[in-house]
Amino acid sequence: MNILGIETSCDETAAAIITIEKETGILKSLSNIVSSQIDLHAVWGGVVPNLAAREHLRNILSVIEASLAEAKLHKEDIDLIAVTNGPGLIPALLVGTSTAKAIAYVWKKPLIGIHHIEGHIYANFVNKDPEKIEFPLLCLVVSGGHTQLVLMQKNLTYEIIGQTQDDAVGEAFDKVARILGLGYPGGPIISKMADKFAELKKTGQFPDIHFPRPMLNSPNLDFSFSGLKTAVLYFVKKNEQKLKDEIFIQQVAYEFQQAAIEVLVAKTIQAAKLHAPKRILLAGGVSANTQLQNNLQNAIKKELPEVHYELLDNTYSLDNATMIAAAAFFRHQANRQENAWLSNWRSLSTEANLKLSQK
Ligand code: KG4
Ligand code: ZN
Repeated sequence: MNILGIETSCDETAAAIITIEKETGILKSLSNIVSSQIDLHAVWGGVVPNLAAREHLRNILSVIEASLAEAKLHKEDIDLIAVTNGPGLIPALLVGTSTAKAIAYVWKKPLIGIHHIEGHIYANFVNKDPEKIEFPLLCLVVSGGHTQLVLMQKNLTYEIIGQTQDDAVGEAFDKVARILGLGYPGGPIISKMADKFAELKKTGQFPDIHFPRPMLNSPNLDFSFSGLKTAVLYFVKKNEQKLKDEIFIQQVAYEFQQAAIEVLVAKTIQAAKLHAPKRILLAGGVSANTQLQNNLQNAIKKELPEVHYELLDNTYSLDNATMIAAAAFFRHQANRQENAWLSNWRSLSTEANLKLSQK
């Protein structure tokens, strides 16, 4: 079975094809095309929805064609089309869903709508055996729009046991980067600056900077990042003249990242102690952060050595369409009513605030 995935919820125009490898049963990626709009939005300091939609429209067909070409497949070989139908920026989402509907109608193929976060979670099972997933499974979802602890008792069922009460952690990375004059998107550049400071720190003494760890000791599993961002803002305002100093910027990035990651890791461990998952996963764009990956891995090894933790392949941590196709494979497996999926070109809705389906 070959599945074409399409993703346009934010600023990446993406198409990808996955298949189930006959000999091994592995959910294998055949192509993964991502056309990023970062340069277009960077001048505005963030994603401009209508600009994103215009750019998606310009690129979507050639991105889909490239995904077929890279997979060495033709449209006749596609068995199922999957598209992100929320949450995200409506003008951007609509380009993906309208294109997917048109293709499904013309090609007479079944169409499945996928929740963007469901896609991020299933990114962990690309190039893996879909039969070998251990439940219960705990997933820390960290992206530009979401920070959630999601508990799964089985495939496609999600219980949100903790979430941010204000900003998402990716949003905090982006805002802190802006405060430091580092541009957009903030995550990768903050993490690069933080790594540089971590090296420097080994060689000398630096003044103490300490940012708060919001809700670190709260009894629930929720997060809050807006106070941390504000603490960075006030600290930088008070020390504005130091913004000329590269090392100062690196240290602020490092201390902010330390604070954010400490809370993320502690809450994940707290959640795991409460819910006893067999496996812990990371998902969403912030999962590309190596410090987060390492700190979580070390904490699990130390405190929950029996829990399985495997790093997400970085190819699939940022927005992509392979993850959408992967999630669709599981949805299709759970409901093989081709007839229902076949009429989706007519009925599939696009929702900016689409909710993850609960149990
Ligand atoms: O999942 P994603 O690509 O898009 C959304 O669904 O939001 O996540 C984007 C977010 C942005 O906030 C970006 O700054 C952050 O992920 N990000 C990172 C890193 N790479 C991307 N945050 C921290 N460290 C990184 N290396
Ligand atoms: Zn995403």
